[in-house]
Amino acid sequence: MDAVRNPYSPGAGRKPAALVGRDDALKGWGTSLRRAEAGRTDQPFVLYGLRGVGKTVLLSEFRRNAAKRGWVVAQIEGGSGKNLRQLLGEALYEPLTDLARPSAGTRILKALKTALSFKASYDTAGTWTFGVDLSGASGGGADTGILDTDLRKLIHDLADAAEDDGVGVAILIDEAQDLSAEELTTLCMIAHAAAQDSWPVLFGFAGLPSLPRILAEAKSYAERFQYAKVEQLTLDAAGAALTIAAATEDATWDEDAVDVVVAASGRYPYFLQQFGQDTWAAATGPQITEADAQLGVARGTAQLDNGFFRARWDRATPGEQQYLRAMAADGDDGSGSGQVAARLGKNITTLGPTRANLIAKGLIYAPEYGVVAFTVPGMASFIDRQITP
Ligand SMILES: Nc1ncnc2c1ncn2[C@@H]1O[C@H](COP(=O)(O)OP(=O)(O)OP(=O)(O)O)[C@@H](O)[C@H]1O
Ligand SMILES: [Mg+2]
Repeated sequence: MDAVRNPYSPGAGRKPAALVGRDDALKGWGTSLRRAEAGRTDQPFVLYGLRGVGKTVLLSEFRRNAAKRGWVVAQIEGGSGKNLRQLLGEALYEPLTDLARPSAGTRILKALKTALSFKASYDTAGTWTFGVDLSGASGGGADTGILDTDLRKLIHDLADAAEDDGVGVAILIDEAQDLSAEELTTLCMIAHAAAQDSWPVLFGFAGLPSLPRILAEAKSYAERFQYAKVEQLTLDAAGAALTIAAATEDATWDEDAVDVVVAASGRYPYFLQQFGQDTWAAATGPQITEADAQLGVARGTAQLDNGFFRARWDRATPGEQQYLRAMAADGDDGSGSGQVAARLGKNITTLGPTRANLIAKGLIYAPEYGVVAFTVPGMASFIDRQITP
């Protein structure tokens, strides 16, 4: 069928034509937005799950929903090599310019002035211009160099300004497990202060399955955050991801065809999008058949092997790849670190750094003490399929 009209969107963070199966999380977020507008602040949301399960897409939907209500919104991603100060500062510039207007009240002017000082704290060469006169405004002082002090001041003043507009501030942090311990601790403390003093500020964190433990280690009251595990879709939702998307382009799926793709995908959103895309390409349509689906799955699997899986595999050094290979024998469920060591004929302590590096690269995580598992669903079968020892 027409490639131009192909409605499927495999790829990191790409908005699907049909975002399905996330109603509870979206409803919870929507309620919290309205509660914050009414002066009742909720604990941060934490979305965690495996690679390709749809965390970024959900977090971006949080952003869109907040932005639609006129909130001040910043969405950032950890692990990019920039620090939190820089990431947040730059993400806030655009929403700040939206706040700036000649009629802005004193609290908005104050927030802008504080933001200017925050910008100066990490970028001595550059400054921001908002096109409004801030000479008489109070504010500033978010440039002490102490992250907690500066960020707290910025977010507090921003929350006051947003409150004047009857809205709030949403701070969304993707790949949060890649922030430093200090940055996460700071964010937890500010989120705690915001909830205690009812600033209209909502935080959304997204990251790998290790994120809840990392947050709990950063600050014990992170245990009260609202955790949502982002998982595979239900059978119905997985089917709907295919059929609703096709319907937007006046195409339909035979039931058998849906079954083939849903089964092959393990109900993982990324794989549904990939197989959907390849099935569409294989079909002459507008009715997609089981044979199309089988071809789509075969081609999609090759695509995933050469892209999604291969890219992650190539991130590992030869020594790390050996470790992954030893894990693959246990499938996706995880392996005992001791078992992996035994398979490799090595001492568990000797393998400590390899394990730590693989965790730091986001390829594996520790679901519980002494256990390691792939962050990428289907990685074990990829290794079985492709990599001969
Ligand atoms: N609820 C959903 N319904 C349909 N498709 C979805 C849904 N969520 C995500 N997708 C699709 O799945 C793919 C992966 O989504 P996303 O990048 O959000 O995953 P992720 O969990 O952030 O992965 P990673 O851990 O690698 O960052 C994208 O192609 C996206 O279009
Ligand atoms: Mg993501």
